[in-house]
Amino acid sequence: MAPSPRDASPSLQQAMDDVTNDVNRTIERLLPETDLAEAQLYKAMRHGTLSGGKRLRPFLVLQSAKLFNVDPLRSRRVAAAVEFIHAYSLIHDDLPAMDDASLRRGEPTVHKMYDDATAILAGDALLTLAFEVMSDSETHEDPRVRCELVHKLARAVGAGGMVGGQMLDLIGEQQAFDLGTISRLQRMKTGRLMAFSCEAGAILGKGSENLRRALCNYAHDLGLAFQVTDDILDVEGTEEETGKDHGHDAQAGKATFVSTMGIEQARTRAEMLVEQAVRHLAPFGNRAETLKELARYVLSRRA
Ligand code: IPE
Ligand code: IPE
Ligand code: MG
Ligand code: MG
Ligand code: MG
Repeated sequence: MAPSPRDASPSLQQAMDDVTNDVNRTIERLLPETDLAEAQLYKAMRHGTLSGGKRLRPFLVLQSAKLFNVDPLRSRRVAAAVEFIHAYSLIHDDLPAMDDASLRRGEPTVHKMYDDATAILAGDALLTLAFEVMSDSETHEDPRVRCELVHKLARAVGAGGMVGGQMLDLIGEQQAFDLGTISRLQRMKTGRLMAFSCEAGAILGKGSENLRRALCNYAHDLGLAFQVTDDILDVEGTEEETGKDHGHDAQAGKATFVSTMGIEQARTRAEMLVEQAVRHLAPFGNRAETLKELARYVLSRRA
């Protein structure tokens, strides 16, 4: 079947499928099934990580690592660790105390499948597993590289990054935010982990400061554009397409670009951000074509 304009190109789709297969195999190895008395915890962690997902952050890790000729055995471990963090953030994001969502990746959310306490613990365990994997000598033989990965990841996803962004997101349900604050919120909750995903490739490959900066700038703009399209899809997408509850943001009174400027302006903003993201990749020349293509796909995605 010919791809519709909203699909990824065949080459990008192939590259995304390859990443999905690689990262799923790595996750299977790092998070096997068990028959221990606490097996439910592992089942919940596996449900949160292995039941689908676009694997966008692992894609960023593996593609950026490729630019620095990093051994894929290493970058796959970092890709899995980043996906563990992402999965933890989604499991907690879906809890009744946060977004109270029932559907994720077309399946019941972890707290619906099990219970709230199991979902909290599964998230906690995925968060710590990410750091365990990242700090293991199999991830890189140089302890300075491992230390930098751990330090940068902690900074990206803690109070000054993803978790702080999630706090702002909840405060935004009660309080009016200006565009500058919404933009900061979204850069924190979504952009920081994506920026880390790109920088991780450069850290593993000991890339120069200016190349790292270029990748981080790309990922920040991409992350913001990605969150804007997530907000648009919450209004325009169907549950069949996104595998998530529909119309949740408006119902919860979330402060988003869409709620503040409307869908058309939000789309224009996302397009501008993607153009800007692509320009940041100039120092890599045509070696970064796949990352550029990914940025354009973010605009047209339906899932
Ligand atoms: C959803 O992320 C949460 C956001 C930061 C918008 P994704 O859209 O990447 O979710 P999956 O991993 O593909 O399910
Ligand atoms: C979630 O943002 C961001 C994080 C989990 C850090 P959303 O709440 O918009 O994500 P969805 O729409 O539930 O996937
Ligand atoms: Mg949320
Ligand atoms: Mg949510
Ligand atoms: Mg959303």
